[in-house]
Amino acid sequence: MAPLRPRQSPPLHPDELELGPAAVPVSATLAANQILDERRSRGEPVLPMAFGEAGLPAHPLLREALAGAAGCTAYGPVAGHAALREAAASYWGRRGLPTDAETVVAGPGSKALLFGLIAGIGGDVAVTRPSWVSYSAQASLAGRTAHFVPGSGGVPDAAKLARAVAVARAAGRPVRSVIVTLPDNPTGILAPSAAVRSLCSVAETHDLIIISDEIYRDLVHDEVADITSPASISTERTVVTTGLSKNLALGGWRLGVARLPAGRLGRELRSRLLGIGSEVWSAPAGPVQQAAAVAFGEPPPLAERIALSRRLHARVAREVAFRFASAGASVPAPQAAFYLYPDFTPVADVLRRRHGISSDEGLAALLLRRYGLGVLPGSAFGDEKWRLRLRVATALLYGESDEQRHAALNATDPCALPWIAAALDRIEEILADLTR
Ligand SMILES: Cc1ncc(COP(=O)(O)O)c(C=O)c1O
Repeated sequence: MAPLRPRQSPPLHPDELELGPAAVPVSATLAANQILDERRSRGEPVLPMAFGEAGLPAHPLLREALAGAAGCTAYGPVAGHAALREAAASYWGRRGLPTDAETVVAGPGSKALLFGLIAGIGGDVAVTRPSWVSYSAQASLAGRTAHFVPGSGGVPDAAKLARAVAVARAAGRPVRSVIVTLPDNPTGILAPSAAVRSLCSVAETHDLIIISDEIYRDLVHDEVADITSPASISTERTVVTTGLSKNLALGGWRLGVARLPAGRLGRELRSRLLGIGSEVWSAPAGPVQQAAAVAFGEPPPLAERIALSRRLHARVAREVAFRFASAGASVPAPQAAFYLYPDFTPVADVLRRRHGISSDEGLAALLLRRYGLGVLPGSAFGDEKWRLRLRVATALLYGESDEQRHAALNATDPCALPWIAAALDRIEEILADLTR
């Protein structure tokens, strides 16, 4: 072995050490939250509408299940406990997707599973423009590229997808999968069955694996809406992911599940996902898995809780959408979860003349700094900056205490509760001032 040579220069202080290039920037949500916290600490009013938090308390049944499982300290199987995988299989079975528990993999949030899938599939991915921020960031972390394809309701337009895949492949970028979000964040829209069918047909002719992120599935406002999962059409090439973060508002518990297809492809994906899981997270937290098994079993009190949250999300999202529309923005009527996606193009002239604004980032920054209204620019979701679209999340308006949030859940008219009514009035005032 060569002898160690003495260094020529004194060692650097840790603050002088250089890091390699950042793989992904800090998320826009975190940056917005920091500014909101600063305003709050100065006693200034804030409206936190940037963060996709479901904003509701944990159900007592689940709190008890979690507390009772505190002694579950073993790592356990990478794929998750059998009881959880069986409960998740039964959850999908009740939604018209018969599932063998062997094809279910649990992880610390569906986000981790999505990353494991993108990395495990090992090719570029096609995503919708706009789509949830993390898909393209995760593709970059995995050393891959996300190809944005215009679409709506979380599903890329089929003809444009076919073209984008062909162009990318011709340029030496093998696109191996397409991610869809049913229903969608950021737009709060559920893609119609026909769009899903066309997507499946392109996936089949272009050899694509479909990853269907269905984390908001239980929060479609219209209970009898026709929700078509690509897993019911392209059964052997579709992976479905979901979790407890949105329907049961348990984001901080970090639990998600993936349903892999049966067949050779599914088995190979499972083994790659387990390989990544075993080296990165080992297994989801044991006590959380036990509570999640109760949740996926859907006992009546939890089904009722989800129905109440769906009603609350629908009412508040509709009222907020109405205020954006009254200020001149064009807003597709929200169909699911707690998101709206207003487009300020109809008032672009006013925004340019009065505020010198010509980009969605400028608009979001003005709303944050001048009025304490936190929202995200559409470009955080891959949209064009000039489109002046914003992603507005409505669930943090339900209250600051569990007591207020319970009252919101149980109210027949939540928008009449003083704190929600005050938030709605403030939104109206801000938007009137902005576009006057
Ligand atoms: C579309 C979408 N998928 C996945 C997630 C992440 O879910 P989880 O908490 O299960 O990691 C989110 C959270 O914001 C989301 O909006």
